Amino acid sequence: MQGLYSVLLWVIPALTYLLGGVLFIKGLGDLTIGTLVAFVAMQTTLFPQLNTLLRVATQVRASLALFTRVFEYLDLDIPIKEAANARTFPGGRARGHISFEGVTFTYPSARKATIEDVSFEVPCGAHIALVGSTGSGKTTLGYLLSRLYDVSEGRIRIDGIDVRELKLDALAGAVGVVTQETYLLHASIAENLRFVMPEASEADMIAACEIAQIHAHIESLPNGYDTVVGERGYRFSGGEKQRLAIARTILRDPPILVLDEATSALDTVTERAMGGALRSLSEGRTTISIAHRLSTVRDADQILVVKSGRICERGTYDELLAAGGEFSRLATGERRS
Ligand SMILES: Nc1ncnc2c1ncn2[C@@H]1O[C@H](COP(=O)(O)OP(=O)(O)OP(=O)(O)O)[C@@H](O)[C@H]1O
Ligand SMILES: [Mg+2]
Repeated sequence: MQGLYSVLLWVIPALTYLLGGVLFIKGLGDLTIGTLVAFVAMQTTLFPQLNTLLRVATQVRASLALFTRVFEYLDLDIPIKEAANARTFPGGRARGHISFEGVTFTYPSARKATIEDVSFEVPCGAHIALVGSTGSGKTTLGYLLSRLYDVSEGRIRIDGIDVRELKLDALAGAVGVVTQETYLLHASIAENLRFVMPEASEADMIAACEIAQIHAHIESLPNGYDTVVGERGYRFSGGEKQRLAIARTILRDPPILVLDEATSALDTVTERAMGGALRSLSEGRTTISIAHRLSTVRDADQILVVKSGRICERGTYDELLAAGGEFSRLATGERRS
């Protein structure tokens, strides 16, 4: 529509000359050439302004549509609410004891339960691994611990406190999650690292990146930590992005860590670097690692094998291999592939 108006605004002066010219030649009316030229001159100064005004109208209409979408999001009901008498951890920091007690969970859009009657306990500082075939519910267990969803039945406690009774800030500060997909904001690397911990110093940030084994790579970029990343910026590879996420988590220093290993195959050099970064990250913290490659769970204090939302086996690496059940079948399958 605006295009049509623009064309009209260009055509009208020409039409005015044509019509005025015809009237002048035929001697109709009191038209003089001076009047005609003045009239067209006035049109050419007026029309660009009119055109700008029309463009503004279009922009306002587009912005209104955008605002409607933004407000639709803002009006969405938040299913996870903080309890009225929510508490924090005694002493302000969680120690990191986790217990899942008869947890059953059904996604709001799903017909049957994704997690069924799962119970396990992780002592402070212990490392447990969740393994199992794809879609068995491992990531969902991590979501439940960080309370992205509330359990349908049973309860999850951290240091003896039900996660639903905790202040959301306290829970977010206690559980750090390195997910299968890492999101980077369209901002500098430093801003991407610092937004979880704005008060972190430059030295803290560099130390975190050194532990995550990504510092050297960032330093080699033309703008170092000021390099802009994200959708329209510098693009990191999957493994690099995950190491950045690890650095971010190191900066935040949560007592509980959930590591959801990327399914994508990493090359051996990156895999070794990642392994080193993850080991330094999990030191001194309660760690739940969700692993797709069984070789990475050898050191876990306990391995839980998840199958269709239930825990079907538990034990150490050697115990489970010797038991000859689901885990040893997964291990044999991995060796063959
Ligand atoms: N938001 C959702 N709504 C409904 N169902 C979902 C949702 N997210 C996941 N699921 C389903 O829940 C089941 C468990 O998913 P989950 O992501 O926990 O599996 P996983 O064990 O982490 O798999 P993978 O090894 O591939 O990462 C799957 O069948 C999946 O389709
Ligand atoms: Mg998963």
